[in-house]
Amino acid sequence: MAKIIDGKEIAAQIKQEVKQQVEDYKKEGITVCLAVIQVGEDPASCVYVRNKKRTCEDLGIKSLSYELEEETSEEKLLALIDELNEREDVDGILVQLPLPSHISEKKVIEAINPKKDVDGFHPMNAGALACGEEGFLPGTPAGVIEILKRSGVEIDGKECVVVGRSNIVGKPMAQLLLKENGTVTIAHSHSRNLPEITKRADILVVAVGKPKMITKEYVKPGAVVIDVGIHRNENNKLCGDVDFSDVSEIAGAITPVPGGVGPMTIAMLMKNCLESKRLSKKQAD
Ligand code: GUN
Repeated sequence: MAKIIDGKEIAAQIKQEVKQQVEDYKKEGITVCLAVIQVGEDPASCVYVRNKKRTCEDLGIKSLSYELEEETSEEKLLALIDELNEREDVDGILVQLPLPSHISEKKVIEAINPKKDVDGFHPMNAGALACGEEGFLPGTPAGVIEILKRSGVEIDGKECVVVGRSNIVGKPMAQLLLKENGTVTIAHSHSRNLPEITKRADILVVAVGKPKMITKEYVKPGAVVIDVGIHRNENNKLCGDVDFSDVSEIAGAITPVPGGVGPMTIAMLMKNCLESKRLSKKQAD
């Protein structure tokens, strides 16, 4: 039976560390501030945005909330981003995705000042990661690395397989594992003989977006399995891309859904807000 990795507990540790530093800044009269923009009322986005704002509040980070109606024009959204880019009191700008179809996500992401792009989605930050330079990392893959490190999982020299190649998870995940000296394979929907590829993994990160797709036939006994997926099953219960009860029979360690990677994404976002403040302060000093 696999060790269950408690992402909620690890996220709590990180949030506590951020909270402490936010308090230290407060003693110097410095406030950390995140602007959160949501366009429309996508139900999943509403839950995510509420969690982000609540976590800001818990950690003493100020959050500015912009809830724009579905019909908001791209021009108006871009003007708001410009305004927030200029404001010295704003450390991070987060535009919740997906956006309504009449707004270009690419234009919106590229409009955010990369120094305030705490989601790490701007091409400048993606490029910095690819070149091994400093920049903001997207919360989910950065959270996976943190989970592995804080659970004592060695990455150096290990066979790492990432299933999924999105800009938000798969690609940055592979880059980060490579940075930690893993031997990295990216598999995706066109990969042939997927179980053969995933069975090579000492560390298997799954971000395919298909409920319970990964069963024990895909997993090497003893492997560390990280599940990035989140879905609601037929009984309205949360589940991941990995069939947890099946895979936990043979894996060495596994993240559950809920309580695995999910809580880490927000914790790392909060860490990025703090880092943004540290960098702008350093530049001003
Ligand atoms: N939609 C789903 N995940 C995310 C995320 O991490 N950030 C933003 N901005 N939107 C999302």
